[in-house]
Amino acid sequence: MPEARKVGIIGVGKYLPQHVLTNYDLEKMVDTTNEWIITRTGIKERRIAAENEAASDMAVKAARNALESAKLKPEDIDLIIVATITPDMFFPSTACQLQFKLGITNIPAFDISVACSGFVYGLVLAEQFIKSGMYRNALVVAAEKLSSVTDWQDRSTCVLFGDGAGAAVLAQVNKGGILNSTLGADGSKGDLLQLPAGGSKMPASIRTVENRLHTIKMEGNILFRHAVKIMADAARKVTEPLGLKGDDIDIIIPHQANLRILDALALRMGVDPKKKVYLNIEKYGNMSAASSAVALCEAVEEGRIKKGDKILMDAFGGGLTWGALVIEW
Ligand code: UT7
Repeated sequence: MPEARKVGIIGVGKYLPQHVLTNYDLEKMVDTTNEWIITRTGIKERRIAAENEAASDMAVKAARNALESAKLKPEDIDLIIVATITPDMFFPSTACQLQFKLGITNIPAFDISVACSGFVYGLVLAEQFIKSGMYRNALVVAAEKLSSVTDWQDRSTCVLFGDGAGAAVLAQVNKGGILNSTLGADGSKGDLLQLPAGGSKMPASIRTVENRLHTIKMEGNILFRHAVKIMADAARKVTEPLGLKGDDIDIIIPHQANLRILDALALRMGVDPKKKVYLNIEKYGNMSAASSAVALCEAVEEGRIKKGDKILMDAFGGGLTWGALVIEW
């Protein structure tokens, strides 16, 4: 039997909006302090997209950046997947908008709604399409404008989120690539993190707007406990079959929801968080699916990832959803 195709990431990109909102700015908006935010979350500042900057506007910049790093042109791409829970609009999809903005046509483009796990889901989906031989060069973009669905009067959530986009180009590689992956979901706990109104269950009305139901509602405390356990289980599920222990992983690129979650994950994996866990939560807060995408890009840009390194990506979010993968760079 011929050996299965190996699929790897051949380019990464990112885009962060210019405007920086610091914890001190938030102190003037809600009853919070810089100290509370830093000690409870690890966040110092986050980026906020401009009013006329939609998810697809950020996506196209991250995508062009990734194409450049892959040394490909937009016309070389034959599949586009966009992970977002803050699409430009219900439809057409942000992926279709991105395709149009990249100036290409006729190739499949679709969104996936997997909240914070969206980038890892997108990578695994793209891998499967390339492995099957159906497509050759896939563009996976995670783009979020969480500021557009944040309740700026709710101190328990508004200090957490930020805007941004990250991208990756996947193709067949000769060596390494994605070695193992896992995806999961538990719909029974969907109410722990949701945006209640605006869909077919609760269409937009004056009442939904007055009751601020078009913004993120979160049971942070309960989610925290699920996040640590689920991310640790997912890490074990992808590393163990490969015979890899925590120390065999060169770097962990996790979803960045809370510094304390990542410290607890490192503890469960028996690794030093300072050496093994890549962090950018301090600068950007939680950007949902875009967090791990931007983190991967910055880890590459900073030289933290070298050829042959084994990388663990691990994400968790609303749905609930989760996904992890090991990739040899
Ligand atoms: O993206 C993937 C999914 N998301 C997550 O996985 C998020 C997981 N959860 C978390 O990161 C944390 O639970 C939070 C950062 C959201 C909250 O931290 P916490 O340590 O769980 O705090 P808490 O919700 O238990 O609140 C503790 C106290 C409360 O006051 P009382 O009731 O003890 O008097 C809150 O009202 O902190 C208060 N509080 C704040 N105080 C100052 C909540 N938000 C703030 C705030 N500033 N911004």
